[in-house]
Amino acid sequence: MKEIREVRVGIIGAGQISHRHMNIYSNIQMRARQLGFTAKVVAVAEIDLRRLKAWGERYGLDEKDMYTDFRELLKRDDIDTIDVCVHNNLHVPISIAAMKAGFDVYCEKPSAASYHDARLMIDCAKKLGRKYHVQMSSLMNLQTRTARDMIAEGKLGTPYFANLEMVTTRRRPGYDLPSFTTDFYSKRAAGHGPTIDLGVYVIGQMLYVLGLPKLKSVSGLAKQGMELDERLITNPDGFGVEDIGNGFARFENGMGFHFLTTSACNYKDYSMTYILGSKGGLEIINTDTTGGSFARPANSPSPPPFVSSGREPELRFYGDTDGQRVEIDPKCSYNMQIEQRVNPDILLYNDNQVMWLAYKLGILNDETRYNTPEIAAQQLLITDGIFLSEELGREVTVDEIKELSPALYMTEQEIGSELVKFDVSF
Ligand SMILES: NC(=O)c1ccc[n+]([C@@H]2O[C@H](COP(=O)([O-])OP(=O)(O)OC[C@H]3O[C@@H](n4cnc5c(N)ncnc54)[C@H](O)[C@@H]3O)[C@@H](O)[C@H]2O)c1
Repeated sequence: MKEIREVRVGIIGAGQISHRHMNIYSNIQMRARQLGFTAKVVAVAEIDLRRLKAWGERYGLDEKDMYTDFRELLKRDDIDTIDVCVHNNLHVPISIAAMKAGFDVYCEKPSAASYHDARLMIDCAKKLGRKYHVQMSSLMNLQTRTARDMIAEGKLGTPYFANLEMVTTRRRPGYDLPSFTTDFYSKRAAGHGPTIDLGVYVIGQMLYVLGLPKLKSVSGLAKQGMELDERLITNPDGFGVEDIGNGFARFENGMGFHFLTTSACNYKDYSMTYILGSKGGLEIINTDTTGGSFARPANSPSPPPFVSSGREPELRFYGDTDGQRVEIDPKCSYNMQIEQRVNPDILLYNDNQVMWLAYKLGILNDETRYNTPEIAAQQLLITDGIFLSEELGREVTVDEIKELSPALYMTEQEIGSELVKFDVSF
């Protein structure tokens, strides 16, 4: 029988998203024979002692494997990889500390809050020879692969415009949605709001399907436009992020890209994503921001709904065939379930953590995995352009964005009674 390889994981940050990671690890364990590998979480670090204890109890960890100071966890020599589940502006200091301690790193999205910070992590991984991967569930499905293939095969002709609108009316995490931590609206912890929080998924997917076109310039608007009810703001940092991010980007290949997202506004909820090409148009319906079949609750009946929210990622092609106008539904979610059953290797491309583990084990390499850190960095180049354009009141060039991209990562944090200064040099 084929040996099942095991990756030993240390998690840093035991908040909301860590539970989804644990659910996915549990599904990976159940499908280990099919995958040929599995993962075991052997240690956790969390600064909040109560949360740490509850987490350890829930997942059956010994007290000796539970740390309030992540630096202690990083001293262990029986861990293969670190899974970073802290908030955005801690991704840089904690991921870099983990890489400096000798670990490969899997990190939650957005990789960071700015292009500058995203590049730090990529450069650190490169210089120290570590593997590094970012959660980007919007890529891990047949919707994205089909869109990318259709464009690469020329089915749209020459793409010349892309539109991406995700408008929500009351969806400020931690404010309208109390199940999320209030760090989502803290400038210090999150860096920015929906422009990067959702942007990493939807702009990242758009850039990937378009073949990562080179950015030329961005004009944008980003504001905290809506009135706030002070009684609902419980984070001591206050509400410091935008509720609207809107931009127009030009690429070197002449393509235009319009992006609009809101976490709150006085209109109505809708989303509208499409690409226009000289021969065909493609609508992207229900970009997946929650994860595929590995992210569904463990032990759920089979066949599972593809996306836990029940909104299946689909495409619609608009164009002409033999002189007749057509509208074609490529049935992505149905075909994906068949594909998963007939081609076991495709499983490596259908979940973030599965892809990470396969990359970590050398089953996938830099050419065959999705390069999520680079895609995330290209997304941040566009979103930094939106913020810079808002600040300067004009269109900004890609060189300006690169030069002026700010360092937003947290430089210090209280851990227990100590004020820890982070050293991100490498
Ligand atoms: N919540 C979601 O649905 C969701 C979905 C996708 C991605 N994410 C991303 O995951 C990240 C975390 O989000 P979350 O919702 O889990 O936030 P959270 O606040 O629930 O969890 C973060 C945890 O990190 C802990 N922490 C902070 N500093 C630490 C340190 N130095 N060492 C150890 N632990 C530390 C906090 O105490 C907290 O428990 C964010 O970047 C977010 O964008 C969240």
